[in-house]
Amino acid sequence: MSGQEIVDLCRRHTLYEWSAQSAVDPIPVTRAKGIHFWTPEGKRFIDFNSQLMCVNIGHGDERVVRAIAEQAAALPYANPFMATEARARLGAKLAEITPGDIDVFFFTNGGAEANENAIRIARLVTGRQKIAARYRSYHGGTAGSITLTGDPRRWAAEPGMPGVIRIPDFYHGLQRPADSVEQVLAQTEEVLQMEGPQTIAAIIVEPVTGTNGILIPPDGYLQGLRRLCDKHGILLIADEVMAGFGRTGEWFSINHWKVVPDLISMAKGLTSAYVQLGAVGMRRHIADHFQKNVYYGGLTYNSHPLACAAALATLAVYEEDKLLENARRMGVVMRGLMEEMQRKHPSVGAVRNIGLFGIFELMRNRETREPMAPFNSTSPEMQALGKFFRQEGLYTFVRWNTFFTNPPLTINEAEMREAFGIIDRALEITDKAVA
Ligand SMILES: Cc1ncc(COP(=O)(O)O)c(C=O)c1O
Repeated sequence: MSGQEIVDLCRRHTLYEWSAQSAVDPIPVTRAKGIHFWTPEGKRFIDFNSQLMCVNIGHGDERVVRAIAEQAAALPYANPFMATEARARLGAKLAEITPGDIDVFFFTNGGAEANENAIRIARLVTGRQKIAARYRSYHGGTAGSITLTGDPRRWAAEPGMPGVIRIPDFYHGLQRPADSVEQVLAQTEEVLQMEGPQTIAAIIVEPVTGTNGILIPPDGYLQGLRRLCDKHGILLIADEVMAGFGRTGEWFSINHWKVVPDLISMAKGLTSAYVQLGAVGMRRHIADHFQKNVYYGGLTYNSHPLACAAALATLAVYEEDKLLENARRMGVVMRGLMEEMQRKHPSVGAVRNIGLFGIFELMRNRETREPMAPFNSTSPEMQALGKFFRQEGLYTFVRWNTFFTNPPLTINEAEMREAFGIIDRALEITDKAVA
């Protein structure tokens, strides 16, 4: 099929997510390798968002493709009450690489279901109902996960699951300074007091926030949340769905602050999205609860052998190719280029990155620091920027007044410089709007 035929049929018979269908304009894609993907007509794109911040090991890795094919030939499916070698090895491997005494895993189809099960586990173990989450967050599109989500994707699903409360953010946009650790923790403790700490089962946070702005917490914040949780018998859930698996230069982003959460949810980079898989990991003391008590949760595709085999092969690639080290090294290169863009282009209001998890925030006024697009909206300049990226073959997410820099962890310096060459030219568009 031609690119246009594919696009036309997809638009006629399939529903695109988070969009009014008349506004979607998908890129047809037929193959991908390394940091690139191609349209049927052969137009090449640099995948500067790793698709949905998930293809961490890059596209088309033969080792993972082979592992999937071998598993498909031997045993493509076994139900969740069976024991398979892929499931056995994956649980053991994850116990090795996850923080502290996180030791036991429940496998799902993706990140939202990982969070759904994290909530359920927290409620069953503590006997409490409330879950605290932040506004600047995304935790998934299913009933419970979308209620935890703080960003506008939640609005249409309200009122949602009962029992979700909000704790404060430390970041407040381009026009207001970020809070100090002391401020945000004091406000958080106040919310816990007002809600009744003994009614709260868990606090869920993205240790480094993803789509809501690559928000890197100030040192001491996550340690402070850990202390508050310990003081009040609240469980700490780390949502590592986007920030996990080398994206920030560590297996999990929370490792930068040496904090051990009670529950950790993951997906995306776990298989680099070659097959869909999520998981929630739990510390020993939580897993022990379910020795005598029933775990009331299940999925037909729990511990799917194809996905477990893909995950095992993917984890081996991170290690064989030293991708965490490359993410750290290339993160430094990326930071240098981001800062160069900020010095050169007046529309760059802020740049942030940790490893290969990065974002640009654009502004239209250097005095007032007014964002280039309002909250939850766009502007002609941001649309023109996105159009230019697409025309020049740079694929990334342009959201509100921001765009993301999240390439596969396999990227090298020449590829990084090529991408930033396009970004450099693109920013001339937004510079023209700056007062
Ligand atoms: C932090 C975070 N949590 C959860 C999810 C939901 O994962 P999924 O789309 O696999 O259900 C996402 C997806 O982007 C995410 O970024």
